[in-house]
Amino acid sequence: MTDLSELENTLLGQVNAAGDEAALETVRVSALGKKGSVSELLKTLGAMTPEERKERGPLINGLRDKVQTAIAARKDTLGEAALDARLAAERIDVTLPVQEGPETRGRIHPITQVIDELTAIFADMGFSVAEGPDIETDYLNFTALNFPVGHPAREMHDTFFLAPDEKGERKVLRTHTSPVQIRTMTSQKPPIRVIIPGRTYRHDSDQTHTPMFHQVEGLVIDKQANIAHMKWVLEEFCKAFFEVEQVKMRFRPSFFPFTEPSAEVDIQCSRKGGEIRFGEGDDWLEILGCGMVHPNVLRNCGLDPDEYQGFAWGMGIDRIAMLKYGMPDLRQFFEADVRWLNHYGFRPLDIPSLVGGLTS
Ligand code: DAH
Repeated sequence: MTDLSELENTLLGQVNAAGDEAALETVRVSALGKKGSVSELLKTLGAMTPEERKERGPLINGLRDKVQTAIAARKDTLGEAALDARLAAERIDVTLPVQEGPETRGRIHPITQVIDELTAIFADMGFSVAEGPDIETDYLNFTALNFPVGHPAREMHDTFFLAPDEKGERKVLRTHTSPVQIRTMTSQKPPIRVIIPGRTYRHDSDQTHTPMFHQVEGLVIDKQANIAHMKWVLEEFCKAFFEVEQVKMRFRPSFFPFTEPSAEVDIQCSRKGGEIRFGEGDDWLEILGCGMVHPNVLRNCGLDPDEYQGFAWGMGIDRIAMLKYGMPDLRQFFEADVRWLNHYGFRPLDIPSLVGGLTS
């Protein structure tokens, strides 16, 4: 049957020549579609005599099957080729350096990082964060904290005073975060367990002092909080913050108007080779002031010292940041030099947590 074998050759040739799935579909429609060449042939079977049909039927059906099989095979081949091409085009060399996007190129300032670190540590011990304004009344910055008017401790704070307001009151840039102790005790009922990180101001500037610096205050008030609890909290904090197994701390008697007794705390360190290390050595480094909240301060906040007691501490954030990350000059913290920030800053997605490791 030359007409059928010719058609077969033509159709199989077209199938194999189809370069993509769309071209193959055109060939399929032209052969097997409603008006396709093979379909038309199949339609002729109905008008044939039984003898003719017996002879032509298998041939025409055979042709349809061959064309169908060829199309299916070509479709597979084309599909594989398309996948190969796509895989080749989308190939990624995972050994190439990653191009940083803007969201990862920025850097977190070490102060912000250290505040996040210490917040994670104290949050784990059940502390919440309290805040207050940078511009404070003389009453909250001093008087309520048991600094009597004219007391020399006020002079030691090198206070920045604002111009007197219409009532003649001179506000101050807070010289410490301690006024937020008063704000907390007058707005919350004990038990109180807060830390208070924030900016503080004193008229001072050299390698380890800037007119604006940062402190973190801690305050615990309830019916039993005592010095042993305070030592435990501070020791646990130092171990977690400096990421060492143990620290030795030394409590030296000191004076603050708002605590009685008061202490300054040193931690053990070694200074071998000009590098400070904690958890070893026989040197000491002062890192914070603390004490039991003075009964007068409790009274100033409307708390009965016969019922409530507690402890507080204050620590320089900039200083512990310098110690932990080896930054020698405090003034550079606030010079907004991008090169410094690129060197000492932290990646924005490296959020400190106790489970994830503070600085890993
Ligand atoms: N406010 C003190 C300062 O700036 C630090 C301080 C010491 C805070 C003892 C406290 C404390 O809460 O109990 O020098």
